[in-house]
Order: sequence, then structure tokens, then C-alpha cells
Amino acid sequence: MLADAKLKVGILGATGAVGQRFVQLLAEHPWFEIAALTASDRSVGKRYGAACNWLLSGGMPPAAAEMTVVATEPAAIDPDVRLLFSAMPGGLAGPLEEALAAAGFAVCSNASAHRMDPDVPLLIPDVNPDHTALIPIQQARRGWVRPERGQRGGFIVTNPNCSTTHLVCALKPLHDAFGLAAVNVVTMQALSGAGYPGVASLDILDNVIPYIGGEEEKIESEPRKLLGVVASDTITWADFVVSAQANRVAVRDGHLEAVSIKLKTSASLSDVAEAFTSYRGELQRLGLPTAPDPAIILHTAPDRPQPRLDRLAGRGMATSVGRLRADPLFDYKFLVMGHNTVRGAAGGAILNAELLVAQGYLGGENVGRKT
Ligand SMILES: NC(=O)c1ccc[n+]([C@@H]2O[C@H](COP(=O)([O-])OP(=O)(O)OC[C@H]3O[C@@H](n4cnc5c(N)ncnc54)[C@H](OP(=O)(O)O)[C@@H]3O)[C@@H](O)[C@H]2O)c1
Repeated sequence: MLADAKLKVGILGATGAVGQRFVQLLAEHPWFEIAALTASDRSVGKRYGAACNWLLSGGMPPAAAEMTVVATEPAAIDPDVRLLFSAMPGGLAGPLEEALAAAGFAVCSNASAHRMDPDVPLLIPDVNPDHTALIPIQQARRGWVRPERGQRGGFIVTNPNCSTTHLVCALKPLHDAFGLAAVNVVTMQALSGAGYPGVASLDILDNVIPYIGGEEEKIESEPRKLLGVVASDTITWADFVVSAQANRVAVRDGHLEAVSIKLKTSASLSDVAEAFTSYRGELQRLGLPTAPDPAIILHTAPDRPQPRLDRLAGRGMATSVGRLRADPLFDYKFLVMGHNTVRGAAGGAILNAELLVAQGYLGGENVGRKT
């Protein structure tokens, strides 16, 4: 009988909010097969079904429930695993991901630890697929090429902060067509973005919390690396300025962002709308399994997008834009909304891994093909 050749993958921090989303999205993935689940000492040695307080609708995938959680270290992970998806807490992710890459694993990380390293791609496949050119530079610089093991060696690729991801997906067509001079963004971020158990209910009910530690710095810097260009052995950042204010709101999933932009060249309102609706990137050409088509949905109703109504657009992978209009201070303003734990976290990392397969970085010429 014909079977799909699947790449064995592991999930680091599999019991957390993002880890669970990885388990859910990878359970039926056509190219990847879950072969390792890791978490903290609290969970190691337990069945995943017993270690994990499952929070997502639809129930825990039965095969994952029966797996045993292993430690987050190279020797504990099945040696047939080539690719690790990391949902590790930020502070721990840095050294652990480096140790795993040095041991020969490819790591697709959600954590912020390595996002701004000059030799690590900060990747959104429909925005900057060419930034994977940093991978061989990273491997050579860090000594992670392991030809003696008959494989291409380990490396780290990161995906951006969840608010940055949807913001930059919306900014990309405008930057390409008109050039960005300045971006102002005020976020209204969902509770699942704080992990589990996250923000205490008595803090957030009947309230908005006008502070998320470290968030504004990420939103102000990551877009400039993402929209930068590969220049010899690093990325030259794009030269626009971003100002961000981040707020936590009592929404379960889906970040809403109020964005104002100043452009380098003049454009009419219909030019800007056309840039959103006609945008097709590398993703649509490659036909990756998790890619949304279209990647950007432009709403014309005056009260959209809304988190509850629009976060599952494109199976949670699309970016919704709405309320596009002229701005008396900047040139234009609009709302951006997207799912924070799907496209903004696990789904974004899975899409990165699909791009790496398509570009040959995972040595998986047969991945997804019938054998
Ligand atoms: N939530 C989002 O929307 C979002 C979006 C983008 C990026 N991120 C990033 O993704 C990462 C995970 O976030 P999260 O919200 O899923 O966090 P979380 O719910 O707190 O989950 C943390 C995970 O890490 C494991 N862990 C904790 N300490 C560990 C240790 N010493 N060794 C090994 N594993 C350990 C936990 O295992 P136990 O259950 O055993 O404790 C759990 O599986 C963070 O870096 C975050 O910044 C999150």
C-alpha cells in the first residue's frame, strides 16, 4: 500500500498553551509526524494525556495522549527526529535550543530568545522566505554542520511575536508597493497570548491591562528585521520607525491591532485597498499545506474584523484587515486581526517548517510524497 513519507518531529514545551496548539495542528499534518513530546520535570515520564491540562476545543488527539513526555535534552529525544518545534518559556529557550541545534536538530522556535540574533532567520514565509539564506551562515559560524553524521546539521529558525506576525503580514504589500515611513500600532491582545494559567481572572474581568512586559520593544523592532534585506552574511533592517502600545483585553483568542501608517510614496485609498486584495506571495506559489489563500482578507463592513467572528479565517492562518480609511495625522489607518496561537505561534512555526522542506533545508526530498 502507498504511504506518505512523513518527517518525524518533536514538540518542546508540549503541555503549554502553544505546545497544545502544535499537538492539535500536527496530529493530521500531511508531511510531519509527532514522535517526541517534551516538557518540564513536572511532566517527564507521564503519559501526555495525564501531564497536560488540555485547553483546546475538539479534544486531545488520541495518539498524542498515549505518548510519554520526555526531557528537553538531546539524549532523551528519538534520534530519528529531525525537526523540533519549540514552545519553551522565553528564559529557558535560549540555551536549550542552542544545545539541541548543536546536537543536529533543526529547531523552529516560537520563543523570543534567538529572534534578533544576526545569523538567525526571523521568518514569515509569505514575507521574507529568502531570509533562510542565513541558515548556512549560522551553521558555519556556530560549528553546527555535522557531515560526519550524514546529515546537514542543526540550526535555529524563529517566528515573530504574535502581534508582530499579523501586523507584518498586513504591512508587507504596502511596504513593497509604496515603502513604509512610519507605523503606529495600539494592540488589544487576547488572554491565550499570556500562556496558561496566564492572567488571573480577577485582574482581567471588567478590565483592560495597559501593559505587557517586553511586548512593545518586540513590536517596535521585529518588523524592521522581517522587512529587511539579506546583505552578505546578515540582514539590513528596513528603515521605517514603529511606535507600539500593547494592551491585554478579556478576549480568549485573537489579537486586534489599530494601525496608522505613513508611506514613502503617495497612494490613493483604492491603491492601498488594491495592494491588500491583490497580494500573493511566495506561499501561494509553493502551495504549502498550512498556507492560507488569500493570506490577507480585507473587510468592508464597518464593524469588522472582530476576534470572535474572524479569528478562524483561513483555518486561523489568515490576517484580517478592516476599517481602512484616511488618517489626519498619518496617511492611512486600519485594523488588523489574527489568531495569536495559530498563525501567531504554532501555525506560523509549522508554516516555516513547510517552507524549509520546500527549500530543501530539511533534507526531506521525499517528504509528503507517496512511497
Ligand atoms: N501564547 C502565545 O500566544 C504565544 C505566541 C507567540 C509566542 N509565544 C511563545 O511561546 C513560548 C511558549 O508559550 P506558552 O504560552 O505556551 O507558555 P506556557 O503555557 O507557560 O507553557 C510552557 C511550556 O514549557 C514547559 N516548561 C516549563 N519549564 C520547563 C523546563 N524547565 N524544561 C522543559 N520544559 C519546561 C512547560 O511544561 P510543564 O507543563 O511540564 O510545566 C510547558 O509545556 C514562549 O516562549 C512564548 O513567549 C507564545
